[in-house]
Amino acid sequence: MGIFWEFVKNPKRTGAVATSSRHLARTICAEIGVESASVVVEYGPGTGVFTEEILRVKKPEADFFAIERSPTLAADFRRRFPDVRLFEDSATNVASMLTETGCGSIDSIVCGLPWALFDEELQDNLLSATLDSLAPGGRFATFAYLQGLLLPAGKRFKEKLAQSFSKVEKSPTVWRNLPPAFVYRCTK
Ligand SMILES: C[S@@+](CC[C@H](N)C(=O)[O-])C[C@H]1O[C@@H](n2cnc3c(N)ncnc32)[C@H](O)[C@@H]1O
Repeated sequence: MGIFWEFVKNPKRTGAVATSSRHLARTICAEIGVESASVVVEYGPGTGVFTEEILRVKKPEADFFAIERSPTLAADFRRRFPDVRLFEDSATNVASMLTETGCGSIDSIVCGLPWALFDEELQDNLLSATLDSLAPGGRFATFAYLQGLLLPAGKRFKEKLAQSFSKVEKSPTVWRNLPPAFVYRCTK
């Protein structure tokens, strides 16, 4: 089925009409310590373009799981990555997954969620679950479309990141993505 039909069914939750590019996948997985992390988690993998890059760079022995809310995309993901543990759930519940997997806390989170389309309550719940689950000094990377910065929820999210993390950096724009995007790299 893929991202496009998910977008038609549920635009606010899917947030994209096309899957991200490999260029964006490389940018979001860079400089957040995925290669040295003991525990890596991915939010909203969709069809798995970031997952491929995580699997390429992470240590073979690192614990890794993904969280996808859409049942259709979760089923596609399981067919494509039968060896990756996937929770079909909301990332707001990441703490219970850490308990279930016995992973403790997370070193690196790669996030594909469409924050600029989320209401403030969902943004707050996701950020608070993320901060509670990250190890001290843990890293969190998420992307945003350039035009999303014009949306009130996109601006609000940027401010919330600055308030929540001790350090927030912005990557250069990834022009080879539709639409062009950039990555926020955040440190707890
Ligand atoms: C913009 S798509 C990104 C998909 C993929 N990472 C990419 O970049 O092509 C957002 C994804 O997040 C999922 N999603 C939305 N809200 C979620 C939530 N609360 N928890 C987990 N996944 C969620 C959607 O179903 C969708 O797969």
